Amino acid sequence: MKLGLTVTKKQKEFIDSEESEVLFGGAAGGGKSFGQVTDALLFALKYPASKQLILRRTFAELDKSLIRTALELYPRELYSFNSSQHTGRFKNGSVIDFGYCREENDVYQYQSAEYDVIRFDELTHFTENQYVYLMSRIRGTNSFPKQVKSTTNPGGIGHSWVKARFIDPAPPSTRFYSSGGLSRIFLPSRLSDNRFLMEGDPDYGKRLLLLPERERKALLYGDWNIFEGQYFSEFDISRHVVLPYEIPSHWRRYRTIDYGLDRLACLWIAVSPEGRAVVYRELCASDLPISIAAGEILKRSPKSEEIYATLAPPDLWSRGQESGKSKATLFSDYGVVFTKTSNDRECGWLAIKELLCGECDGIPQLTVFSSCTELIKCLPALTRDKIRPTDCSTEPHEITHAPDALRGFAIFYSRPRVTGEKRSARWSADMWEDYLSADGRGKKYLIQKYGEPN
Ligand SMILES: Nc1ncnc2c1ncn2[C@@H]1O[C@H](COP(=O)(O)OP(=O)(O)OP(=O)(O)O)[C@@H](O)[C@H]1O
Ligand SMILES: [Mg+2]
Repeated sequence: MKLGLTVTKKQKEFIDSEESEVLFGGAAGGGKSFGQVTDALLFALKYPASKQLILRRTFAELDKSLIRTALELYPRELYSFNSSQHTGRFKNGSVIDFGYCREENDVYQYQSAEYDVIRFDELTHFTENQYVYLMSRIRGTNSFPKQVKSTTNPGGIGHSWVKARFIDPAPPSTRFYSSGGLSRIFLPSRLSDNRFLMEGDPDYGKRLLLLPERERKALLYGDWNIFEGQYFSEFDISRHVVLPYEIPSHWRRYRTIDYGLDRLACLWIAVSPEGRAVVYRELCASDLPISIAAGEILKRSPKSEEIYATLAPPDLWSRGQESGKSKATLFSDYGVVFTKTSNDRECGWLAIKELLCGECDGIPQLTVFSSCTELIKCLPALTRDKIRPTDCSTEPHEITHAPDALRGFAIFYSRPRVTGEKRSARWSADMWEDYLSADGRGKKYLIQKYGEPN
């Protein structure tokens, strides 16, 4: 029977590859998933009674992409799909299981299974443990090739391990061997390799060009170096660092802290009625017990400065074994009362990025007084975490404290309000003062922030 399939040159290379581990990776739309589904079909037909597993991280992704493509592509006379078992069967006895591993431990559902070929679509969505465990399910007494064949874009939680496993050791399209003696290869794919998409939707590439730089590099050019180095690449000393100036007394002031015995970081932040935040003072010191730390914070907060809230991460509320009191209680015993902020790292880092990128009247939404040297040194020095590129690395530890304190403020400050919800509140004299001294935009912002006065 004639299948009537046409594949691109790169898809053919992927289909013909014989290495134990193959990665077909790069730009979005390069034809990776299509290549994967086509390869699975050809393998199933070539090796009767063969067993294959195709995986995505979630069922929704699996259903929308691979299962759908297979149903469209595979000849009905040869193939049927059981949607409750997620299994495709061929007339010749070959089987393709379509699976997903949402949770880390979901891989154990395949404990007693054995496959000739396992295929990961979007490999960087998986963890290395999941990949390595599933590799152990490749076995069989038949003489069929035994392989793991994966496709992916750069990015995602598994970016670093996939890069270390496939991209860094050898040039593209070059076979190399792992220390365990298994052959591996990385086959790059580019959008320009996929003439079907280039001809069918010539504007697709133009739409990718509109993406922010990092995504553009990953999705248009298949660039694997996007996550190297700096986490806050948007931090620009010439824009975000300003000479100290007198802060108007009606701006709302916060303190935000990160505290461990090894290091205290406390930042003082003022927010203008328009919503611009400026870090105007910092205290970063080592080895301060709580009584001294609280004293140092109070010493630097003049009586004339009204602090609206002192933000601290939730772990300071856990009780100490010896005293039975939490650090938060001890701080409040010494005169510094905390308001709990969130410790959601990813959301917190994103909130900082939003503030760095946001603008009010042409001025960045977050600026830092040039006197806050520790924050200015540490924020741009943070790098991406090797395992979770969406998080910051916690090494070197000493540079994390001031950014951690800033993160606590950023997430507290940018917590989304429920849209459409009309809130009202009894306004204090201070709030009215803020309101009356603000311009039209500032007034709107304050109503959004405090709720309608009642
Ligand atoms: N050989 C082919 N014949 C016909 N159409 C193809 C072929 N290869 C790819 N396409 C089409 O090109 C488009 C992109 O292909 P595909 O989804 O496989 O790309 P991808 O690299 O997996 O993209 P993404 O990175 O977004 O997952 C799809 O519409 C697909 O059907
Ligand atoms: Mg795909």
